[in-house]
Amino acid sequence: MRTQVAIIGAGPSGLILGQLLAKAGIDAVILEAHTPEYVLGRIRAGVLEQVAVDLLDEAGVGSRMHAEGLPHEGIELLVGGTRHRIDLAGLTGGRKVMVYGQTELTKDLMQARAAAGLKTEYEAKDVSVHDFDSAKPRVRYVKDGASHEIECDFIAGCDGFHGVCRASVPKTAITNFERVYPFGWLGLLSDTPPVSEELIYAKTARGFALCSMRSHTRSRYYLQVSLTERVEDWPDDMFWDELRRRLDPQASARLVTGPSIEKSIAPLRSFVAEPMRFGRLFLAGDAAHIVPPTGAKGLNLAATDVRTLSRALIEFYQGSEAGIDHYSARCLRRIWKAERFSWWMTLLLHTFPDTNPFEQRALDAELDYVVHSLAGRTTLAENYVGLPFED
Ligand code: APR
Ligand code: PHB
Repeated sequence: MRTQVAIIGAGPSGLILGQLLAKAGIDAVILEAHTPEYVLGRIRAGVLEQVAVDLLDEAGVGSRMHAEGLPHEGIELLVGGTRHRIDLAGLTGGRKVMVYGQTELTKDLMQARAAAGLKTEYEAKDVSVHDFDSAKPRVRYVKDGASHEIECDFIAGCDGFHGVCRASVPKTAITNFERVYPFGWLGLLSDTPPVSEELIYAKTARGFALCSMRSHTRSRYYLQVSLTERVEDWPDDMFWDELRRRLDPQASARLVTGPSIEKSIAPLRSFVAEPMRFGRLFLAGDAAHIVPPTGAKGLNLAATDVRTLSRALIEFYQGSEAGIDHYSARCLRRIWKAERFSWWMTLLLHTFPDTNPFEQRALDAELDYVVHSLAGRTTLAENYVGLPFED
């Protein structure tokens, strides 16, 4: 088989890239290790920056997001028992975010791909990438017991943090930057109305908590937990009791509880691999970087990587290599700003088991400064809604 771009991974990065390339008349095949149901079963964040919303419109998959997504103009920080509103729109000249679950977005992308008759090979096993240091890279995989090979011009490594693409690059060609946090987030999804119209990020002596949502009738809540905790040790009642303790009295009284539809623990990690291009192989999304979810940047970074990659590939087929040459540096500039923001939000809002008391007081003072100073709130708001794109 031959294609122009072989995309590895059918998560948001691979699916958005596939859509953007198809719009430009560039042929691509997506290889995905798992089933569509498995991909849709993973519950992830759901806050989109304006640049991601615009990109999904450009990709032709924005209509349900506009109909069902919830535009948010502010978030609340609960600090020392008091809620402080960060007026995202007022502080950033009217910019806002869109609350729309990654699962729904993935569904829209899958449907658009199927409707356009574009090829996605699900349950592609033993995917391996070859000769990406030449002009004729190849991808091999096994499907239903039979081996296949794809010849292509480029390979897009959209295969997430544990994927094969980054792992196939010689160790000497890549530098990893990493910070692992000493706690995780226990998340619970329930068909209950959200406790508040806006997201609440809570810093408490018992640990961080987040009140988020998927719709007016579906809520997503998180609790900071130690890495030794297991989901089985957290029956729903215990989760709700602990969440109530981490909220202010008003929110705690308003909280509507119900059975969980999903419950899972995710560790928190910051990670960046540099560079993001190796000859004819490009990394995009979680394959190249991970952020802790505190800043809601994971999906947004994936979207902006593939925006840059699609433009670079379109430019290549029009006769210029400038875009592919600049891909890595262009992405990393934006990625590091989101990494910094996510790390900073994580430091400010969580309880660290081993922070020295001086540092803890200094961080508390910084959070106090952020919520009470116009400059502090503005810096948080402009990063949260997403920094402007520098093309
Ligand atoms: N071969 C084929 N597919 C693979 C392989 C492989 N060897 N390894 C992984 N995959 C697939 C995974 O099954 C998954 O469906 O690649 C896909 C990667 O998807 P994601 O992990 O969702 O990564 P990405 O598309 O970059 O999306 C980033 O998802 O994890 C969240 O917070 C993150 O919101 C961000 C977004
Ligand atoms: C979520 O809704 O899952 C969510 C929202 C905001 C975050 C993280 C997760 O910062």
